[in-house]
Amino acid sequence: MARLDVTETFHSIMFPGHMHTKDSLNYATNFEFQDTDTVIVTYPKSGTTWMQEIITLVLSKGDPTIAQTQPNWARAPWLEQYYCDDVLKASNGPRVITTHLPYHLLAPALQNSKAKVIYVARNLKDVSVSYYHFHKMANFLPNPGTFSNFLNHFLKGAVHYGSWFDHVKGWTSHAKDIQNFLYIEYEEMCQDLQGSVQKVSGFLQCPLTEDELNLAQKHCSFNSMKENAMVNYTLIPQEIIDHSKGKFMRKGKVGDWRNTFTEEQSGLVDDVYSSQMTDSSLLFKWECLEKTVRPLMSFNTSESHTPRTVLA
Ligand code: A3P
Repeated sequence: MARLDVTETFHSIMFPGHMHTKDSLNYATNFEFQDTDTVIVTYPKSGTTWMQEIITLVLSKGDPTIAQTQPNWARAPWLEQYYCDDVLKASNGPRVITTHLPYHLLAPALQNSKAKVIYVARNLKDVSVSYYHFHKMANFLPNPGTFSNFLNHFLKGAVHYGSWFDHVKGWTSHAKDIQNFLYIEYEEMCQDLQGSVQKVSGFLQCPLTEDELNLAQKHCSFNSMKENAMVNYTLIPQEIIDHSKGKFMRKGKVGDWRNTFTEEQSGLVDDVYSSQMTDSSLLFKWECLEKTVRPLMSFNTSESHTPRTVLA
């Protein structure tokens, strides 16, 4: 499927026509989830591939065979992409499904479902930089122009997959409406990978021995994944992802935005963030990790599924 220059607009959100069609998007919104499904939900560039790898390794008890022989899209297909139905029909184990769709588009399908939903969030400044670089390599996304130009579009939500703010607020504010919901941040995964793998294994009710946990952690480290062709997208032909323009496994760092943002751009994002997030009780941990004085954010998942405000 080429359609590299096609944009599919669905419920006012743009999607790359390369992988999305009206039919595939309708398939996603009308999907019948099974209670045994695990659903990874992310805004792009928030650690989707990393969570796919963690789940693969948790389910295989640290054995890397599947992670090293099956591409991530074949083991955890994107629900809204045209090939999903074929992949799911061919699979016989518990289904792992990935999606970038905003909450309001999947809410009807998820209603009353006991599927396990894992939401991964990442600092929007790092997301914007990562997404910018991905636009430069991915020939199915528009040319991003300068970073400044891209950032303006990103803050307005005028990019593929829509607004970061709407995505994060939509999913987290409805955490209580989803029966099995785990919220985790990319920053937490960077800071404590072992603890994060344990959290996922607990949530999936798939306990690991210490050796299995160590193996899983080893194979989902940035350095392992960078070399793994099943997740670093080097399997995708050059005309679709131009590997001469960058690497999918680019830096894998928290706070790398500081190497791209000007002070003015950082202030602009802080201002837009403050105004867009006033109606959200969500507090992210990343600001604590970066030791800034900006709003501190956390989200209590261990005791309940309800967001709370914590100044850490
Ligand atoms: P950077 O571009 O900042 O390096 P997604 O899978 O949602 O598209 O996200 C891609 C981002 O996650 C990239 O960020 C990539 O490097 C990062 N990433 C993937 N695997 C990772 C890992 N094991 N550790 C840290 N970051 C990882």
